[in-house]
Amino acid sequence: MRILFHDLTVDPEPWLAALRQAFAQAEVAVWQPGAPQADYALVWAPPQQLLDEQPRLKGLFNIAAGVDALLRLRLPPGVPVFRLDDAGMAVQMAEYVCHAVIRHFREFAAIEADAQAGRWQQRTPHRRSDFPVGVMGLGVLGERVLKALAAFEFPLLGWSRTPHCIPGVRTHAGTEALPGFLAQTRVLVNLLPLTPETENLLDRHTLGQLLPGGYLINVARGRHLVDEDLLALLASGHLAGATLDVFRQEPLPAEHPFWREPRITVTPHTSARTLREESLAQIVAKIGALQAGAAPHRVGGHVRLDLGY
Ligand SMILES: NC(=O)c1ccc[n+]([C@@H]2O[C@H](COP(=O)([O-])OP(=O)(O)OC[C@H]3O[C@@H](n4cnc5c(N)ncnc54)[C@H](OP(=O)(O)O)[C@@H]3O)[C@@H](O)[C@H]2O)c1
Repeated sequence: MRILFHDLTVDPEPWLAALRQAFAQAEVAVWQPGAPQADYALVWAPPQQLLDEQPRLKGLFNIAAGVDALLRLRLPPGVPVFRLDDAGMAVQMAEYVCHAVIRHFREFAAIEADAQAGRWQQRTPHRRSDFPVGVMGLGVLGERVLKALAAFEFPLLGWSRTPHCIPGVRTHAGTEALPGFLAQTRVLVNLLPLTPETENLLDRHTLGQLLPGGYLINVARGRHLVDEDLLALLASGHLAGATLDVFRQEPLPAEHPFWREPRITVTPHTSARTLREESLAQIVAKIGALQAGAAPHRVGGHVRLDLGY
């Protein structure tokens, strides 16, 4: 068995070592142009050349939850694509989103500024019922985030493509239900995959339908959001602020206005990081299942594959 690895953002050695330990007979290597045909490849944002040169993979593993970077390329026909399902990311996402919601709701940014200035100033508590939180995308991450938020008793809403039933959450499905979902939401959390249908979805029109004083938490992809529309809605006062973890261009360029807007909190695509051990355990199990002739869940299996890139 031959396994290739390609992820320019990490040190490949611990990944290679773990794969060699799991599959003692396997030849495991970092992909190089012209590498011999492999059985499996673990990749993050691979070059087109890798895919063109590896038409007979039995499995292509995306070392992330979002497959948008991969599906923008020409995939070898018939090669099954697998993504990370949770693999330790869902709890991180729940932490991040709960922190952002509570930081805004409890005005911690203003309290911290008061503390910096040596000011003792108590604030009038907001009513929780005035802060409905709506999550777009009820997949592995969205559902886990809602479960965590439920502990804080915010009114909760959810929006997805197909109907979902989540206890304690007012769920909405489909494009026709989007206005109703937005009109009841004050804090909007985006956990959609990036697809032709969802690209630029967070624009003046949709964000303008949030309750007055709305707040955006974008933890999915930068290309969901029309940057200038967010800035315009902040300037008009319709939106109160945003926490953004993902951007159209990453790293966010130094001259981007988001850095200078005090109502926007910028974090460096850090809300849910790929965890090596958890990810490897999942990938090793799937390779083992494939080798044994089973068909583990893959993109296009339980996760719908209609990302027309
Ligand atoms: N910032 C980070 O560090 C980070 C880390 C990991 C992931 N992410 C992002 O988070 C995204 C979500 O991950 P996940 O694992 O939760 O994905 P997932 O399990 O595939 O769930 C996607 C959800 O989005 C819904 N959806 C898809 N297209 C839609 C549309 N056109 N209209 C309405 N709903 C739609 C799906 O609806 P149905 O259930 O009805 O099909 C599903 O509920 C990833 O794609 C990635 O971009 C970001």
